[in-house]
Amino acid sequence: MSQRFEEAYRRSLEDPAGYWGDLAEAVGWTKRWDRVLDDDNPPFYRWFPGAETNTCWNAVDRHVDAGRGDRRALIWDSPITGGKRVLTFRELKDEVAAFAGVLRNHGVGKGDRVLIYMPAVPEAVVAMLACARLGAIHSVVFGGFAAAEVAKRLDDAGPKALLTATCGVEPGRVIPYLPILEDAYRIAGHTPSSVIVLAREQQDAELKPGRDHDWRDEVARAEPADWTPVAATDPLYILYTSGTTGKPKGVVRDNGGHAVALHWTMKGVYDLDPGDCWWAASDIGWVVGHSYIVYAPLLHGNATVLFEGKPVGTPDAGVFWRVISEHGVKALFTAPTAFRAIKKEDPEGRFIGAYDLSRFETLFLAGERADPDTIKWAERMLGRPVIDHWWQTETGWAMAANCLGLGRFPVKHGSPTKPAPGYRIDILGDDGRPAPTGEIGAICVRLPLPPSGLPTLWNDDEGYVESYMADFPGYYKTGDAGLYDEDGYIYIMSRTDDLINVAGHRLSTGGMEEVLAGHRDVAECAVIGVADPLKGQAPVGFVVLKAGVNRAHDEIAAEVVRMVRDEIGAVASFRKAAVVDRLPKTRSGKILRKTMRQIADGEDFPIPATIDDPAILDEIREALKPLGYGPA
Ligand code: COA
Ligand code: AMP
Repeated sequence: MSQRFEEAYRRSLEDPAGYWGDLAEAVGWTKRWDRVLDDDNPPFYRWFPGAETNTCWNAVDRHVDAGRGDRRALIWDSPITGGKRVLTFRELKDEVAAFAGVLRNHGVGKGDRVLIYMPAVPEAVVAMLACARLGAIHSVVFGGFAAAEVAKRLDDAGPKALLTATCGVEPGRVIPYLPILEDAYRIAGHTPSSVIVLAREQQDAELKPGRDHDWRDEVARAEPADWTPVAATDPLYILYTSGTTGKPKGVVRDNGGHAVALHWTMKGVYDLDPGDCWWAASDIGWVVGHSYIVYAPLLHGNATVLFEGKPVGTPDAGVFWRVISEHGVKALFTAPTAFRAIKKEDPEGRFIGAYDLSRFETLFLAGERADPDTIKWAERMLGRPVIDHWWQTETGWAMAANCLGLGRFPVKHGSPTKPAPGYRIDILGDDGRPAPTGEIGAICVRLPLPPSGLPTLWNDDEGYVESYMADFPGYYKTGDAGLYDEDGYIYIMSRTDDLINVAGHRLSTGGMEEVLAGHRDVAECAVIGVADPLKGQAPVGFVVLKAGVNRAHDEIAAEVVRMVRDEIGAVASFRKAAVVDRLPKTRSGKILRKTMRQIADGEDFPIPATIDDPAILDEIREALKPLGYGPA
């Protein structure tokens, strides 16, 4: 048992103000807080009210001021384009200050929103930090989302400026961004007043005079801008994430609590020291990218790798080992999917032996359930600890982890170990009371969430309470279901809602159903997440046609697949749909999605007592067969 962990954990719950107040000393403030935690208005909590700071100053300038300007800060490695760049903290500061000057020239200041739709290039990180420098609020949209999703974020965030590039690059294809954005402006019905476009050599683009501006020309013209103090409670960013409907939730992150918590995690959770090289193989469009490509490592003075590529195929299943060896990565954080992809291509781990991994110490996994097979394979191949940890966009850092900086617990495959400091996690039964050890229930965090936990949803206090607090008063509902074992290890088993996790990407089946329902021939539909050996889960759609429609079913299935790709994006990985005569329902008309998923996954299950007509389950089985699902 780790005594250091136990002590820290206990103190974090018994004396949160003392615990986080002490950790806050590691962050720079221009004005100290009035109190550590404002808990006067539950469930709206505020960390470090009255304090002022600046996240960019802490992540960049402070390292330069402390004489560490020549250390590596950002390492860009792009096997997909052949590009590489290393920026020291000083170089990063100069680039960020220059780009903050650009934003200022475009009238961007404190509290203004800036949408960022960019690939994994250094300028995207510079853009995020430049917003933080001015106290502007960035909202990064993942490049795999289609125009309609960008439009939803434009509508909700109301950005003054949009930052983009001429293209993203995926294996075998270049994705021009400007046409996607034109569609987004059309759907949203408005356009940000300034669009700043980074020209990439893979794609030319015509800029619209008056609205679009060339990134490099703008930088050449701008005077560097200094950082400005903001309230600890001011928003640093909005990150939209999937909810149960097609309307994404705008998770708000503040400046002060976020900086304190994330700074702490680099040592507390990941056991890294300033100067160590760290790599989170994700994308800046996801929370993992926000927290662990950009903010946490830079706040802590680590070198961070920004990777533009895939675990396989860019050029091969050895690329992770090449990057680790070339840049001296000490710890890697990625999603289990990446390892399943590598394992599939290189089951014997031949590529691993070809690289010098002597400086590599730990692999961290999160984003989806880490299946024991994948963990065991990684442990065997790497000969290093493989640490699962569990968290969400809403928290910005791990809710449960083996906090290596506080001493290591024995690893149990299938469990992210124990709740992290600041998180009192209860497994609740339907009656709202803690479930007995070993019994599955709703995983809930006793309020308040520790620093960095979302203070609210953007422009939607009501939605915040409704989504997270209403079902279990006094708790934050994670939406995950799980259990504790007799040693206090937590296991994350499934979702309690309609979210699915595809290749570590959180997606809403409800959102996909809204798209399917928009097809002119569709009367009703259901989308379920079925087990997928590579991506963890994959969405599968069922549509019932309107009376009198007698077009070819294959054609309609192909059309709905295309619609999801066009309206949500390629990232949804929605590739399979079937036309059925009817959907299994309860007598009260509720669609039995869970039963459909159990059929698809080939599980044994009791026929629901409330089912309207059990015969329909055979029809679902038949429909799933040609899609490759169902009992073998
Ligand atoms: N911009 C545009 N399109 C993108 C994109 C981006 N940034 N990212 C993904 N896409 C596209 C892909 O090209 C693919 O398109 P396709 O249907 O035309 O093939 C589609 O979205 C699905 O992408 P993905 O789910 O990533 O599947 P993949 O087959 O391209 O790759 C893996 C599979 C396992 C290699 C990949 O998912 C991966 O690297 N996962 C690592 C996990 C990860 O980074 N998770 C992030 C959260 S921590
Ligand atoms: P996101 O907000 O996109 O980071 O997705 C968060 C969701 O991913 C969680 O609510 C879980 O459902 C899932 N998740 C993340 N990490 C893990 C993990 N280590 N084990 C199981 N599920 C996880």
